[in-house]
Order: sequence, then structure tokens, then C-alpha cells
Amino acid sequence: MEKYLLPDIRDLHRIDVYEAHGGYKAFRKALQMKTEDVTEEVKKSGLKGRGGACFPTGLKWTFMPKQSDKPKYLCVNGDESEPGTFKDRQIFEFNPHLMIEGTLIAAYAMGGSISYIYVRGEYGKWIKMIEKALHDAYAKGYIGQNILGSGFSTEIIVHRGAGAYICGEESALMNSIEGDRGYPRVKPPFPAQNGLWGRATTINNVETISNVPLIIDRGWEWYSKIGAPKYPGPILVGVSGHVNKPGVYELPTGVPLLEIIHKYAGGVPGNKAIKAVFPGGSSTMVLRGDQLEGVCMDAESLKAAGSSVGTAGLIVMDEDTDLIKVIARIAKFYYHESCGQCTPCREGTGWLWKILNRFENGEGRWEDIDLLLDVANNVEGNTICALGDAAAWPVQSMVRRFRDEFERRAKIPRPKVLEAVAV
Ligand SMILES: Cc1cc2nc3c(=O)[nH]c(=O)nc-3n(C[C@H](O)[C@H](O)[C@H](O)COP(=O)(O)O)c2cc1C
Repeated sequence: MEKYLLPDIRDLHRIDVYEAHGGYKAFRKALQMKTEDVTEEVKKSGLKGRGGACFPTGLKWTFMPKQSDKPKYLCVNGDESEPGTFKDRQIFEFNPHLMIEGTLIAAYAMGGSISYIYVRGEYGKWIKMIEKALHDAYAKGYIGQNILGSGFSTEIIVHRGAGAYICGEESALMNSIEGDRGYPRVKPPFPAQNGLWGRATTINNVETISNVPLIIDRGWEWYSKIGAPKYPGPILVGVSGHVNKPGVYELPTGVPLLEIIHKYAGGVPGNKAIKAVFPGGSSTMVLRGDQLEGVCMDAESLKAAGSSVGTAGLIVMDEDTDLIKVIARIAKFYYHESCGQCTPCREGTGWLWKILNRFENGEGRWEDIDLLLDVANNVEGNTICALGDAAAWPVQSMVRRFRDEFERRAKIPRPKVLEAVAV
């Protein structure tokens, strides 16, 4: 299929090349439209957030107050810290002006006076590339005061994170920009009512924002016909793990996972069987290799299969993978990244890691299997932000879908009474 987010155009990161291929045309077009018509176009396109929560983008924009004598803000979320997720950096490197153009259109639609592009701190090389692109866009008059004589003024600022996964959570991100500790805020109030410095704010993912110029340029009808009807558009699928060609693939939504693995990512080394996949990053529910037939990179399809599209970071594990080791490592990540504000997450993520560590070291007990579920169930839904869910879901799904692995690794065997019942 044709590629829109990452087309094969040499030096597209340069503003002259970007303009020569129609760049900033959509922004010019948007400036001629009524702001509410721009939002309506995005709403009708069916675009849903690519940052993990899958929220309809146009609808989110309508939550912003229309009239306000206070500044309004947009945050473009490029914190990208989830294991298995590495797609936004492709946009930073190969098509940064698409993101900038999307940011400008979104700011225009919502009346945003300042947009912050929040970038993962470790992305030093990409931060320099974004800054260069912004510098060039300022020089061409696309950003700043009275842009292209339209009367619309807006600024864009790059904000560098400091290496915490939690700062990708939208309200922690705002605290981080304000110079505070990256603690998530209690919601409501939601950012559109009370965001950065108490002002109306919208947070969108880098890839989400980069879809906006396509919609404005070619219209919502064209866009809504790409890929899966209820989750349309191009999507950047990051494939990692046991595949011959790991990488980021731009595809229409709705491509079967097995096609992504075998056709695009070159199949599994040694033609081994697939034991498991995380379809959308390490926070999504793991799927068994033998349940992948017919499952597509689409929010609906993955929901029906018992997982979610997340950030479309597809992690593939072959038949020889030690899943206990995998899930113990993932649990350690969430334990390390929990901000510690909510007790269930602060304590629960540590307990999950300790129990999984017991299994990894051959010290797991039979009753630990249900204890894992019990702890995870008590973390899920009981925290201010979704980091708790992100820690619980992979563990819950791993125990439910690969219980036999845990049973095999339990040092203390199945109690006799249970064996009698099972017989
Ligand atoms: C712990 C945690 C980390 C997150 N990290 C990111 C991130 O790195 N990038 C991102 O876009 N969204 C991340 N999110 C989701 C954001 O809170 C928010 O839903 C998203 O940026 C909204 O953009 P979208 O509507 O365009 O998807 C994270 C959420 C949580 C709970």
C-alpha cells in the first residue's frame, strides 16, 4: 500500500523536500477553514489515538472550551517509553514536518497558543532533529505570530523528558512540563478543563497528530476508507522479538497479525512456531500463538481476541521462549517505573515481581499462581492512572493463557487434595 506517514522519499526531514511534496499544504488549507470545521473533519475521519488508549481524536478536541480569554495548550506526547514501542521516533527522524504540520492544524482547531512536544529524554539524536525542523518551520513563517498573514499565532516548544515511563501518562506529562515531579493527577478534572497551569489542554500522541494533515489534505471520507472501518487509517506497527526483520512497518489498520509477522517481518527465525505475542506493547494482554488465526491489528479484532491494540508494538516470542523469564522482566519494569503514589501500584507491582522472581528461580509455590492473579486483580482499576492496569494485564493474561508453564515451574507441587478433586 501507499505510505503516508513514512513515505519512501529521500531527505523528507528537510523542509524544502517536505514542501516540494505538498508539505504544509494541509495547514494552509486549514487556515482557510473555520476552526470547528477542522475539528469536525477529524471527528468524521474516525481517527483514534495511537498513544495506547484508542480515544477518538476529534471528539477529544471538542472537549476544549471554544471561547476562552486564557491561553490553551496542546501537548504532543512523544515520551515513547513502553517496552516494544519505538514508532514515534521514526516520525521524528524521517518525517518531523508532518508532526509539526499536524501540531499546527490541531493548535489552530483548538485555539492553542502554545504546543509542547514532549520527547523521551534518551532520544538525544531525535531531539536535535526536531529542533532543527522547528527552527526551519519558524524561519519559513509557519510558526510564530500572524502565521502566513492569517492572524493566527502559535508557538511550539520541545520539552525533553528525564527518563521516566510515567511521564508519558498525560497528567504526569503536564506536571513534568510544569517542572514538578511526574505524578499523575486525579481525574476529573480532565485536561480540557484543567490542564497545564490550570488551563485547557489537549494531549495527543505523535503518530495521532501526524495523521491530521492527511485528513485535512484529502478529506475525512478518503481517510475513513483506509483499513479497518472502526479504527481507520495508516498505522505504524513496530515489530520486535523473534522475527527475521524487526522494524517499524507502515500498514493500513486491520492487517492480520500473522501476515505482519510472516510477510512483512520476514517470519520467525528457523521457522519456529510462535508461542506468544504481545500485540500492542508490553502493557497489552498476551495472546497465545495458537489463537492468532484471523486476529488483526485493529482495535475491535484485538478486543474480541482478549487483548488491545495499545501502541501496535508487536512483540513476538517463539516456541523456545521462557515466558516466565519474560513476564518476570516485564513485571520488574513496571515495579521500577511505578511512581509510588497509589498504594496498590506501589506495593502490588513489587509483589508481582517478587512472586514471578520466585518462579524464575525455581522457588515458585503452587498457591503463588493464584496469588499472582489475586495481586494483579487488586492493582487493576485501583490506581489514579493506568500504569497499574499496564502492570496487571500482562501478568493476568500470562497466568490465564499459560497456566501450564507456571504449574510446570512450581517448586512446591500441586497439593494432594487438589489432585484428588481433579481426578
Ligand atoms: C504509564 C503510562 C505511560 C504512557 N506513555 C505514553 C507515551 O509514551 N506516549 C503516548 O502517546 N501516550 C502514552 N500514554 C497514554 C497517554 O496518557 C494518553 O492517553 C495519550 O498520550 C493520548 O494521546 P492519543 O489520544 O493521541 O492516543 C501513557 C499512559 C500511561 C498510563
